[in-house]
Amino acid sequence: MRGKIEIFGVEDIPLIKNGDNIPLIIFNALTKNNISLEDGDVVIIAQTILSKSLGNLRNIGDIVPSQEAIDLHNKMAPLIRKNNLPDKSPELIQAILDESRQVLKAEHVMIVETNHGFICANAGIDKSNVGKGDVISLLPLDSDKEAEKIRISLQNLTKKKIAVVISDSFGRSFRLGAVGVALGVSGISPILDKRGSKDLYGKELQSTIIGQIDNLTSAAQLIMGEADEGLPVVIIRGYEYSLMEKSSITKILRKSEIDLFRKKRKNGNFETILKSRRSYKSEFNDKEVSINLIEDCIDVARWAPSAHNGQFWRYSIIEKGKIRETLIEKMNSKLKEDLIQEGKSDNFVFKKINKTRNQFLNSPYLILLCLDSHDLKTNSDSARDFNEYIMGVQSISASATYLLLAFENKGVSACWYCAPLFAKKIIKEVLKLPSSFVPMAFFTVGYSTKTTQKPYRKELKDIIFKIRKEK
Ligand SMILES: Cc1cc2nc3c(=O)[nH]c(=O)nc-3n(C[C@H](O)[C@H](O)[C@H](O)COP(=O)(O)O)c2cc1C
Repeated sequence: MRGKIEIFGVEDIPLIKNGDNIPLIIFNALTKNNISLEDGDVVIIAQTILSKSLGNLRNIGDIVPSQEAIDLHNKMAPLIRKNNLPDKSPELIQAILDESRQVLKAEHVMIVETNHGFICANAGIDKSNVGKGDVISLLPLDSDKEAEKIRISLQNLTKKKIAVVISDSFGRSFRLGAVGVALGVSGISPILDKRGSKDLYGKELQSTIIGQIDNLTSAAQLIMGEADEGLPVVIIRGYEYSLMEKSSITKILRKSEIDLFRKKRKNGNFETILKSRRSYKSEFNDKEVSINLIEDCIDVARWAPSAHNGQFWRYSIIEKGKIRETLIEKMNSKLKEDLIQEGKSDNFVFKKINKTRNQFLNSPYLILLCLDSHDLKTNSDSARDFNEYIMGVQSISASATYLLLAFENKGVSACWYCAPLFAKKIIKEVLKLPSSFVPMAFFTVGYSTKTTQKPYRKELKDIIFKIRKEK
């Protein structure tokens, strides 16, 4: 019968512990219930069991709240009480901040943009279904990657081609009630782009994009339940879709530039921009970056402080093309020689060279930062000259930081690379740079296909040393 879909939960999934092998547990539970996976099945897995297996949990008691968390607590507590909602401790608020790039609203609820780019309440932190005590579960760092690992293992175990979705439930603006949403996918596209196909009357669809993955996840949620139903794995059978090797949940995330309800990032406050800047090391999409935008950002970078106001920075904008290819090939030959000399294995060398090639050849723009030693102060004292050189390096680093922040402010992805330090001579020869230039850093610039995780930061208490005045 056309249009029939089956949805069923997998019984006998035990309580999950850190280190558990989720695909094997699913496979064993299926076997116990005499269920065989079929080609095209979509396996929906609740995020909580994945987070538990990955040990992606935190104990509230171990969290030290920052001043920002304490201030937010003081602001929110009366509004929370007024709305009869459970209290949010400063520690919990800190955990939410740690998982977020940006707080969008903090009133009786806290709506944030998570480090993955999801907009949701409390950064998806869950206090339910994680056992006793003050333990909270965090969303997996990279649900796409986890979905892919599970899909490959389940395919190997069952010899069936399937799709895997990591699910959660989010509340919605404008409507009450949480519904299922996908956090990560593998084997299926998150969206179904119907633009260009015909409606019932033969009219071409202009703007219809179906959020197929959230539809499937919501359907699964009917069985999975929120509370103690205990069916964290649900199979959807009979849904017609195209199996695909590479997919990512980022496809479903509306970019802030075209989101009518979110502040454009460039309107974000200064502190938000400072904290949300990240190094984008993944691939870039095809969206063009204008040369004017690059120049505007370098214009910002020239306002950095510099020793003696020496402004030692020189930027070369390297477009895609023959010169860049020659440069990277020559740099890679040197890198290869260096790695072989260090005794690295052939496999290591091969991977490293490929990675460097991808990084530096595929970015829409590659920017080289040099220090112009011509502008350094020189003295008869070599120790003094050395410190002048350091001041030059410090100054161009400040400019580089301004540059990265200017890109962040414009919503452009960039990353700082130290590779030029190891190939100064080659760079100067290929780009025919003046002899006084010292190559210092590369910046890859473009629009990233992926969001990037917030990396670890040392605690404030570990980097501030208070020198108390003597009594
Ligand atoms: C001086 C300097 C050199 C760097 N060189 C590299 C590099 O060669 N390769 C790389 O992947 N990242 C490089 N990075 C980026 C750092 O890995 C990144 O800034 C750090 O992991 C923190 O991440 P965040 O920038 O997203 O906060 C460099 C950063 C700086 C400041």
